[in-house]
Amino acid sequence: MEADFWHERWSKNEIGFHENEVNPLLVKHIKDLNLPEGSRIFLPLCGKTRDIAWLHSKGYKVVGIELSEHAVKQLFTELLGDEKLQPEVTQIDQHTLYTFENIEVYVGDFFKLSKQQLGKIDAVYDRASLVALPDTMRTQYAQHLLEITQGVPQLLITLEYDQSVIKGPPFSISDAMIKNYYQNDFNITELERISEKLKGKVDADNVVWQLLPKR
Ligand SMILES: C[S@@+](CC[C@H](N)C(=O)[O-])C[C@H]1O[C@@H](n2cnc3c(N)ncnc32)[C@H](O)[C@@H]1O
Repeated sequence: MEADFWHERWSKNEIGFHENEVNPLLVKHIKDLNLPEGSRIFLPLCGKTRDIAWLHSKGYKVVGIELSEHAVKQLFTELLGDEKLQPEVTQIDQHTLYTFENIEVYVGDFFKLSKQQLGKIDAVYDRASLVALPDTMRTQYAQHLLEITQGVPQLLITLEYDQSVIKGPPFSISDAMIKNYYQNDFNITELERISEKLKGKVDADNVVWQLLPKR
């Protein structure tokens, strides 16, 4: 999906993907990454997810990137509540960086974020990011993610359903696709599968994956 699609979704508030509660699968499975305290976790295509606040409350450093500045402003408003608290806003090359305590969120294009800009990451948490992109962009997404994070452990939440019933996003991701994107670099384990009715139309599985580096 191109940038205009997402900007329109945010401007019309058509954000059915946004969850009003912390994702319970994150809460349940973050331990499966065996991360040391204070690890720095990257959330690509982060929207205004409440998972950022939860990870921060657990003592993790959090870095996100999101195309929509509208979304990032909402994220910090919801996070800080009190208007006296404001994130620091700086311009770095093509991205705008919003920072508050140990939370950093870049506004801009994930595909233009460099390894140097991102800095050292200890883990990736991808919920609804890989599934947001069409087939043609997903290989590029996985390659760029690997390049800028250096293949650190990843907690990945995808959806699997009959793509002929509804067209994405979110797109259906099969086991074979996950292997295609990541099996050269990771040992891949399916941790859990939970069924839901997607958009009230099709049975879908939420699938939680643990990706641990092979090296
Ligand atoms: C399906 S939403 C998921 C958001 C978040 N991960 C969550 O769990 O709520 C996908 C998000 O990715 C953003 N996005 C899409 N393409 C992007 C890109 N190239 N760079 C940065 N963000 C992007 C969209 O604006 C949207 O907020």
